[in-house]
Order: sequence, then C-alpha cells, then structure tokens
Amino acid sequence: MSVFAIETQSSDTRARTGSLATAHGIVKTPVFMPVGTLGTVKALSPEEISACGAQIILGNTYHLYLRPGCDVIDIFAGLHGFMNWNAPILTDSGGFQIFSLAKMAKITTDGYAFQSHIDGSRHLISPEDAVDIQLRLNSDILMCLDQCISYPAEEKEAQGAHELTLDWASRCQKQIQARNPGQNLLFGIVQGGMYPHLRRLSARGLAELDFPGYAVGGLSVGEPVALMHEMARSTLPLLPENKPRYVMGVGRPEDLVEMTGFGVDMFDCVMPTRNARNGQLFTAFGKINISNAKFRTDTGPIEPGCTCYTCQNFSRAYLQHLYRTREILAYRLNTIHNIHYYTALMGQMRSAIEKDRFLTFRDDFYRKRHP
Ligand code: GUN
Ligand code: ZN
Repeated sequence: MSVFAIETQSSDTRARTGSLATAHGIVKTPVFMPVGTLGTVKALSPEEISACGAQIILGNTYHLYLRPGCDVIDIFAGLHGFMNWNAPILTDSGGFQIFSLAKMAKITTDGYAFQSHIDGSRHLISPEDAVDIQLRLNSDILMCLDQCISYPAEEKEAQGAHELTLDWASRCQKQIQARNPGQNLLFGIVQGGMYPHLRRLSARGLAELDFPGYAVGGLSVGEPVALMHEMARSTLPLLPENKPRYVMGVGRPEDLVEMTGFGVDMFDCVMPTRNARNGQLFTAFGKINISNAKFRTDTGPIEPGCTCYTCQNFSRAYLQHLYRTREILAYRLNTIHNIHYYTALMGQMRSAIEKDRFLTFRDDFYRKRHP
C-alpha cells in the first residue's frame, strides 16, 4: 500500500499534484510546511496556523530533544498532544541543526557528539537515536540523520558526506523497522554537495533502500541560486517518480514556483515566519517592508484581494505603527499574512496543475512581480 498518490501530472513540466496520507490526515501536494522549530510556529496558535491554510508543520528534533526534553513530550504521547496541533507534523532529524547551532560538534561514523547551545551539556546522537527521538515525538514524517555540508566544499568532503548519509539512512531504516512504528513515515535525504555524480549515487542508493519519501538536502547553503536550481532540477528525476519529494530549507516564492515545475512536492523554509518578524511581507507584486515611510498613512491592506485575517482587518498604516512600536501584535499579524501568502501560492499552483495550466501560472507569477 502506498501512502502517496499522484493525482495530476502537468503535460509540459514535471509539476504534479498528489496526496500524502499520514497518521494525522492527508496532505495535498505540492505543499509548503511552516517551520515550528520549538513546537510553535512563532507567534501563532494552532487555530491560526490552520486558518492560514497550513496543512502540515515542521518541528526540530535537536531543539525539542534539548528542551523541553523527550520525557516531557512523552507525558503527552508526542508533540501533537503537547502543542495541541492535531494535523500532520514532519520533524527534521537534527544533523543540520547540530552543525549550525551546537557547540563543539564532532561527526563520527556513529553520529554526532556535541554540546548544547543552551547549557553546554554534552550529547551523542546516533542515527538510531535520531529515529527513536522522532518516534517519541510521534512525528508523522521522520527524517534520516544526515550530514549537510556547506558551500563550497571539496569533492572528497562531499563524497564523505554522501557515503555517511547513505550508511546512516540504512541504519535509520533498520531502526524504524525494529520499532514497528505503524504509520510513521521515514524519508531518506540526498546529499553530495554540488557534485551531480555524487548526488546521482546518493539518490540511487536511497532509492534501493525504498523509503516512502525522499528529500533533497544540502541546498541553500551559500551557493548561487542558479546552481541550487540546477542541483534540484537534475536530482529530482533520479528519485522514484511515485514517491513524495521534499526539498529541505527552500525557499523564496520564486524557488517554490521553479522547483514545483521540477516535480518537488514538499517545501519548508523559515523565510515567511522570520521575515514577518523583520517587517518584510510577501505579495504577488514582490516583497514590501512595512516600516517604509510611504506606508505611514496608507489605508489599504498589505495586499489588495488577500483573504488572510490581517488583510481583511488592518491597514498598512496600522501595521507600520505596530511594527515601529515593536508591539507583539505586529509579529502575529505579519506572520499570519506571510504564512497565508505561502500556502495560497501553493494552492494556486495545485489548481493550475490540475487544469494543466502550470506554465501559464508561472508566466503570470513573474509578470506580476516584474510588470
Ligand atoms: N534543512 C535544510 N537543509 C537540510 C539538510 O541538508 N539536511 C537536513 N537534515 N535538514 C536540512
Ligand atoms: Zn494578507
């Protein structure tokens, strides 16, 4: 039985729509997953996250394992109960966060040794531990422990990261099978730096292991945008056609449009939430910064026609005032609009694909931004 069903395939691009069945409901793809690192999509309640159109959110193993700790989340039988979010959750495995946040991180064939960025305490996380922690969170979609490298990197380093990631993928899969998890899905992650032949080996090795879904990792790590797109475009066709494909940590609205055209089904990025807290708001005409003097007396909504709670109820002038005075409501209202923008963009792409008008949609998307 397959948990992923492709519903429509675009005739002139690789874009497709599908549905992904998880223990906490069905996800319509292509989908954007707001980031809820610490068991909260910053500034929003679960009701608000749903009202913004989000179907699934992302949590971080590294952060939740350190604080509040699995023993606390166990009391609630997982992250859903703890945060009162009853829809799907995907958790990242921790490798990426350990490398970017932890102190004194060391990688060995057996996993990561690191010190907490919070209190300096020492920890070891093996591929098996990463699976066990994510199962304790009762994540709907678990990610294998992987090694993400920065850009640029020597071929030797990229090859090492790919080989270790593939070995760990197999260990993670054995671990989840041993735990007999039921509906929790484990996805493999492609690495290999910016070396197409390494990514090919990585994708082929993971495909042989037969995961219910696959991610492309190691992108948006400092490389030029054109190279990031080229890596995603060339890696995607190497992954099984009938399985969901997830590009991790990407990206800007234009990246979502391009990569949906490459056949990507799932995205996550901190951009809509983080930028909202910096006053940057997304619209069909491009980004605006709400602190810009030209909005001081602007009675209109962030984006005319936007159906989000913020645009339905508040003016740019008021949002500028809230932002300039650092009022808590500014972060909340800005985040609502940005998440709504991202989920609405994905919804528009799904309906364009269903009508086999994806390329027309893509042209319109660029025309509005650059009239
Ligand atoms: N988030 C963004 N990029 C990556 C990656 O390469 N690996 C993991 N695990 N998470 C990511
Ligand atoms: Zn809005």
